[in-house]
Amino acid sequence: MPKLNIIVGTMYGGALDVAEQVKPLFEQAGYTVAILEQPTVDDITSDAADLTLFSVSTTGSGDFPGGFVPFVRNLRDQSPSLTSLRYGIIALGDSSYGDTFCGAGRTLDSLLEEHGATRLGERLEIDAMETFMADDAAIPWVEEWIITQQLEVA
Ligand SMILES: Cc1cc2nc3c(=O)[nH]c(=O)nc-3n(C[C@H](O)[C@H](O)[C@H](O)COP(=O)(O)O)c2cc1C
Repeated sequence: MPKLNIIVGTMYGGALDVAEQVKPLFEQAGYTVAILEQPTVDDITSDAADLTLFSVSTTGSGDFPGGFVPFVRNLRDQSPSLTSLRYGIIALGDSSYGDTFCGAGRTLDSLLEEHGATRLGERLEIDAMETFMADDAAIPWVEEWIITQQLEVA
């Protein structure tokens, strides 16, 4: 069975909740799914998974959640080739923060691309000003993502 990692960066649990809610959709599509709350660079290199989904919120002023900072620091320091990484990304934020809206998700997306990773489809940005429960936006997006990117393997 192919493997999907959902890598989470969260302050208050919203991004983790998204991961937990979309996990069954991928299981139905034929994947073994792991949710990683303390990811390492190894988790996105060396064919660690067939597919990776990031669910990352923004804190501070466009900053990464504290628990996610070591991952990003190591990614920048080690600067690995990510050409085998196929990923999707869900960014959680709040447009009332203006220019830093979804800053962490956007920065991560650029960083992955700079290292040769391939994003499948567009980034989903969930605005807490518009969507009270992030799952309400994430679940239909994942359902559509699985279809449009032809990810179903079962
Ligand atoms: C202290 C604080 C700072 C925040 N800063 C930003 C920000 O700069 N940009 C943004 O888009 N959202 C910002 N947010 C909004 C969060 O990203 C948003 O509420 C998100 O849904 C939280 O997800 P989580 O529950 O996974 O931590 C901030 C929220 C808090 C409480």
